[in-house]
Amino acid sequence: MSAGSLFFFKTIMRSRCNQRTFMSDFENYHETSQHYDLTRVPVGLEIIAKALGRSPTPLANQTLLDAGCGTGAYAAAFVSRVKGIVAIDLNPKMLAAAKSRFNGAKSPTPVRFCRAAIDTLPLAGAAVDAIMLNQVLHHLGDSAQTGWARYRQVFWECARILKPGGILIVNSCSHQQLERGFWSYSFIPEALEKVKRFLPAEAVLKEVLCDAGLTSIDREVPYAGVLQGERYFDIRGILDPTWRDGDSIWSLVPETNLHAVLTEVNQLLQLGHMDEFMRHADRQRHLVGQTTFTIAQRVINL
Ligand SMILES: C[S@@+](CC[C@H](N)C(=O)[O-])C[C@H]1O[C@@H](n2cnc3c(N)ncnc32)[C@H](O)[C@@H]1O
Repeated sequence: MSAGSLFFFKTIMRSRCNQRTFMSDFENYHETSQHYDLTRVPVGLEIIAKALGRSPTPLANQTLLDAGCGTGAYAAAFVSRVKGIVAIDLNPKMLAAAKSRFNGAKSPTPVRFCRAAIDTLPLAGAAVDAIMLNQVLHHLGDSAQTGWARYRQVFWECARILKPGGILIVNSCSHQQLERGFWSYSFIPEALEKVKRFLPAEAVLKEVLCDAGLTSIDREVPYAGVLQGERYFDIRGILDPTWRDGDSIWSLVPETNLHAVLTEVNQLLQLGHMDEFMRHADRQRHLVGQTTFTIAQRVINL
C-alpha cells in the first residue's frame, strides 16, 4: 500500500461510518440507483475545476471529498487530476454503483468509499483540501422552520474537515432555477413548492455558510448545463418511470396526481402538441440555468 493509500485508509478508519442521520426523506435511492445514470450527467465541471484552483494546495496534491457522491460521476471526472478522492454516500446501492464505476479503472489515484452521512463525516479534522456537495442538500429535508439546523450541521462538519483555506463547492438549484429551468415541473406545481422549501434562498445559504466559518463566497451558474443530459428533452420521458427516477422531485408527486399528469401528457402527445408544450415551458432555462455553484473557503483560523 502506498503512503497516499495508507493515509486514506487511516483517515477513513479513524472514525466510524455513521449510518443514520438525515437520510433523504423522499427519494428511494435503493430503487433509483439502477436507473440514475440513464438520465443524469455531471454539469459545471469547469466551474468545479476553477474553484479547486482557489485552494492553497495545487490541484494535483489535493484530497477531494465527494459528499453524497451518488453513482460517482463527479468523482470520476476529477479522479485523474487530484491526489486522492474520498467518496461517501448514505445509500449502499448508490455507493455500490459508484464503486463499480471505478472497478477496473487503471487510475493511480486512490479512491476510498464510505457509507456515511454528510452531517457526521467520518474524517479527521483538516483531512481534505476540498469538498463537493452535488445535488444533495435538498435531501436533508431541512427548512426555514428549523432555522436550517441540518444545513448548519453539514457546513460545520465541512469546515471541521477542510484544511485552512480549503474549498467547499455546493451545487444546488435556486428557487428561480426550479421555477424556470425544468420544463416538466409545470405539470407538478405542488411538488415544486415542496422542493423549494428544502432549499434556502441564496442570501440565507450565504449566512449559514458564513456562520460555519466559510467565507469568500462566490456563485457561478453553468447556463448551458442540463442535469439530465439529452434525455431532458425527451417529450415522452414523463411517461417512463426510469426517466422520472433521474429526478427526485417526481417521488414527491402522490400517485393520484401522477395518474392525472400521465393522462395529460398522453393527451398532449396524441394531439401532437407535446413538443410545442416542452419548448414553451423550457423557454427561460437558458436565462437562469438549472443549478448554481456556491463556492466558499474555510477561513484560515476557525
Ligand atoms: C440527487 S443524488 C446526487 C448524487 C451525485 N452527487 C450527483 O450529483 O450525481 C443525491 C445523493 O445524496 C445521497 N444522500 C442523501 N442524503 C444524504 C445524507 N444525509 N448523507 C449522505 N448522502 C446522502 C443519496 O443517497 C444520493 O446518492
